[in-house]
Amino acid sequence: MPDTQYVVAIDQGTTSSRAIVFDHGGQIVAVGQKEHQQIFPRAGWVEHDPAEIWTNVRDVVGQALGRASITAKDVAAVGITNQRETAVVWDRKTGKPVYNAIVWQDTRTQKIADELGALGGGADRYKSKVGLPLATYFSGPKIRWILDNVDGAREAAERGDLAFGNTDSWVLWNMTGGVDGGVHVTDVTNASRTMLMNLDSLTWNEEIAGEMGIPLSMLPEIRSSSEIYGNDREGGLLAGVPISGILGDQQAATFGQACFEVGHAKNTYGTGNFMLLNTGTSPVPSKNGLLTTLCYKIGDQAPVYALEGSIAVTGSLIQWLRDNLGLITSAPEVEELARSVDDNGGAYFVPAFSGLFAPYWRADARGALVGLTRYVTKAHIARAALEATAFQTREVLDAMNADSGVDLSELKVDGGMVQDELLMQFQADILGVPVIRPKVAETTALGAAYAAGIAVGYWSGEQDVIDNWAEDKRWEPSMEDAERDRQYRLWKKAVTKTFDWVDDDVS
Ligand SMILES: Nc1ncnc2c1ncn2[C@@H]1O[C@H](COP(=O)(O)OP(=O)(O)OP(=O)(O)O)[C@@H](O)[C@H]1O
Ligand SMILES: [Mg+2]
Repeated sequence: MPDTQYVVAIDQGTTSSRAIVFDHGGQIVAVGQKEHQQIFPRAGWVEHDPAEIWTNVRDVVGQALGRASITAKDVAAVGITNQRETAVVWDRKTGKPVYNAIVWQDTRTQKIADELGALGGGADRYKSKVGLPLATYFSGPKIRWILDNVDGAREAAERGDLAFGNTDSWVLWNMTGGVDGGVHVTDVTNASRTMLMNLDSLTWNEEIAGEMGIPLSMLPEIRSSSEIYGNDREGGLLAGVPISGILGDQQAATFGQACFEVGHAKNTYGTGNFMLLNTGTSPVPSKNGLLTTLCYKIGDQAPVYALEGSIAVTGSLIQWLRDNLGLITSAPEVEELARSVDDNGGAYFVPAFSGLFAPYWRADARGALVGLTRYVTKAHIARAALEATAFQTREVLDAMNADSGVDLSELKVDGGMVQDELLMQFQADILGVPVIRPKVAETTALGAAYAAGIAVGYWSGEQDVIDNWAEDKRWEPSMEDAERDRQYRLWKKAVTKTFDWVDDDVS
């Protein structure tokens, strides 16, 4: 056993920040959590206040340490995991962000993406280099937007005064001292979501940065996912503790689910859904609307790649039923409401709130609720909202099977929505393969903890992660094939109703 007993993970997510204290068995000892404000200045725009995020991170670390009754001396290492793509640009001298963080779901950069595509190659202009299609989702065009639209930002960036980061870099820079010597670093997984990193060399692509008008001096140094980047600052709650793991949230969940071999996959059900399939040490291009992305890189070892199916809206549709319609007062209530009816009553809900991500990549789509009759009640709508998650996941799984040439035989799941047993059974039914939930469903934080702990020798390597993983529950498919096919056909038809909604004068 190591001398220090615990590892802390900071999970800076889309809706909240969490800090979790883990023990050597990978079990949760204590959690701190705080939601931050979602800022919607216009239709399609989504922002966060980076200062609020940094305050919340400090608060939740305090909560978690307090609840575990431990202090910095009991902590071997800190790992950071984060909402990916969300872009923060700040002034290195003042430590202040020059604009709110532009969140991954934000669609304001469509015009920038279109203009870059028009230089030649369309949406696939950079795909062979960075693994991603030109879309509003990724960080690069968001940085460009800030430099184009914030007074004085471009000049300051060209002087070398501005820094860019996803929220991993923002939190790390602040934790390691901010204006007083803060470390400006990111890991390969986060860098692979910017559209600016070469998949093969793991370096910034100067040509793409040039076309996007982004000075290289703004970009963080790219490091592995598991190594010591720096120590928590003097006066910090974790003063002196090494910060030694960074993984984007979805890659962290893949790590926490012990998907270390080619063909291993997990699906995380949070704000959106993200399925990642480990494809080994070389990048595999997708022909079916998936992304090629970094999965993880441990220290000096070879990088491991993944294919990813990203779905923008799943759990956030449940939040929308709660916050925008008032249909429920808390997310778990959706299951109760949905269970009060036997089926969706013919209603299909396609939540294309940010357009459609994988496998369609249709920026012109917007949400639609179709198949409505006088028969449909709010309970059917609750059911249709849950089913939307399962149908979207089926579409991504089909794309994975087509790209990899092997059919997945089971699916490991995690994230907030996997508490919903109605959804889990329907998911198994619609996929036709078993769905498996692990004992520790907080796999995002867990993966970041493992990456940090491995770097300092608290855990010896992947085998510890494999040994600690344990199954909690599995759902077997029980739907007739004909019924599965019928429902999936109707879903696909519903999806087509969302296409082509956004005209030049519609945002
Ligand atoms: N019982 C439930 N049934 C359906 N959805 C649920 C249930 N409980 C939580 N959710 C949904 O799960 C999501 C929260 O999951 P989770 O905490 O994994 O999100 P997250 O994506 O990690 O958050 P973040 O984006 O901040 O990282 C919310 O969108 C919520 O609506
Ligand atoms: Mg999360």
